[in-house]
Amino acid sequence: MKLVKLLANLGYGSRKQVALMFREGRVTDAHGEVLYADDVVAHETIRVDDEPLDPAPGLLLLLHKPVGYTCSTKDPGRVVYDLLPPRFRLRNPVLSTVGRLDRDTSGLLLMTDDGALLHRIISPRSKLPKVYEATLAQDLRGDEGAVFGAGTLMLESETTPLAPAGFDALGPRHARLVLHEGRYHQVRRMFAAVGNHVEALHRTHIGGLGLEGLHPGQWRIATEEDLAKLWH
Ligand code: URA
Repeated sequence: MKLVKLLANLGYGSRKQVALMFREGRVTDAHGEVLYADDVVAHETIRVDDEPLDPAPGLLLLLHKPVGYTCSTKDPGRVVYDLLPPRFRLRNPVLSTVGRLDRDTSGLLLMTDDGALLHRIISPRSKLPKVYEATLAQDLRGDEGAVFGAGTLMLESETTPLAPAGFDALGPRHARLVLHEGRYHQVRRMFAAVGNHVEALHRTHIGGLGLEGLHPGQWRIATEEDLAKLWH
């Protein structure tokens, strides 16, 4: 791919703006030699203003989503893209969230520009477990494990029952849920179905992949090791 197109697709600017960056000598190789728009060079050797070029398409990000951010691009309030470099919002192919977390849910959110990977992760057929910890308004009743594990729970306005979910009581008002599907507001609606209310919700894992030391608002690019953990 021509360098102008590559940089434009990575969100550095329009083709015209990127062509100007080349003319200004802002795009160099690792030794500081100015690159020209029709040069053919390896991605990892390219520098823009002495900084390594953003990662090539095929990107997977781990983000610790804080409460108060939405996964939509259109929301007028805080959105998860605000936590990333502004360029990441302009990439082509686009960087999408892998499923969604509610505005009031915190925890592990994956983002990718790889459509096939996205579908593999969210597909119910992949049965990738998603682990949530919920803080509840009322004490647990004691039958939640049986209700959630039965595979017969029907949420309001749904036509098929939920797949069996794993449940562990972590305290009188604190529980861990393991889901293998992702329906709209699923955890909140499951607890509503057993007469409770979720006060705080946090996703700790997708597959075997956890937050791995990321603090709220922090993100990083997934490594091969992260991918192996995801599918473990
Ligand atoms: N279930 C919910 O209710 N909310 C989320 O954000 C994720 C799962």
